[in-house]
Amino acid sequence: MIYLNGHFMPIEEARIPVLDRGFIFGDGVYEVIPVYSRKPFRLADHLQRLQYSLDGIRLQNPHSDDEWRSLVERVIAGNESDDQSLYLHVTRGVAKRDHAFPKGVPPTVFIMSNPLLTPPQELLAAGVAAITANDNRWLRCDIKAISLLPNVLLRQMAIDAGATETLLLREGFMTEGAASNIFLVKNGILLAPPKNHLMLPGITYDVVLELAHGHQIQYEVREISEYEVRTAQEILLTSSTREIMPITLLDGKPVGDGKPGLVFEVLYQLYQNYKLTVMRGAGLKV
Ligand code: PDD
Repeated sequence: MIYLNGHFMPIEEARIPVLDRGFIFGDGVYEVIPVYSRKPFRLADHLQRLQYSLDGIRLQNPHSDDEWRSLVERVIAGNESDDQSLYLHVTRGVAKRDHAFPKGVPPTVFIMSNPLLTPPQELLAAGVAAITANDNRWLRCDIKAISLLPNVLLRQMAIDAGATETLLLREGFMTEGAASNIFLVKNGILLAPPKNHLMLPGITYDVVLELAHGHQIQYEVREISEYEVRTAQEILLTSSTREIMPITLLDGKPVGDGKPGLVFEVLYQLYQNYKLTVMRGAGLKV
């Protein structure tokens, strides 16, 4: 069951007019929220980022946080899996095609859910391959915009190369992955690029840094050079749907010794434990 503009219905019945600005211009923003045991993970953070994205595209938030919460709860309840990946999407509505914002047009609001398929153990044990590419996206990558054409093309480069993710490099520094945030380990220290307009402020990224902070794992948040990427001991990928994954092959060369490293193992376990506390309803930050 999905939610579309005030109604709950099977996805097969959902329809939007072709003049929706999401369809015509990619004029909208979205969130992907993991749900574990029917509890949305870090919902407050996702709603806060949604507000930030809406502000970034100058679109009024159609709902209060409480309204979003109850919509999200009803979609979760209307779907079968206990673990779900919720997709929440707001566009600037339906209007005659014109770049300028339409006046007095209600936004389109859409929420769907899919079963959450976290990475299987075999993949976590072996790690995944990644490639690098030039980050040719716009300069507001901090907005979670639905216009994802550059990300789609960059991610497909990885798939075509038999890899899982594309690490993006901009002017000699690493920004993020095509659909994930990226961490390195150098000299045993976890390194994260600083949040700015060149990357999406990932919710999983925040959780990883909180876990590192709370468990005396040394970390630094600073610019990461291409050279550091190519000589890293470990490379980790994070996202709401893929949680934390080790990248063990980069552009065909092994990362470190080519196996998932110690920092990955520790953070992965901490993340799983943290998830358990959330599922038990505590939902507390670490
Ligand atoms: N993408 N950077 C980009 C470009 C992303 O698309 C994503 C997630 C992230 C990680 O953010 P978070 O930890 O909040 O999921 C970073 C989602 C999952 C998607 O588009 O499907």
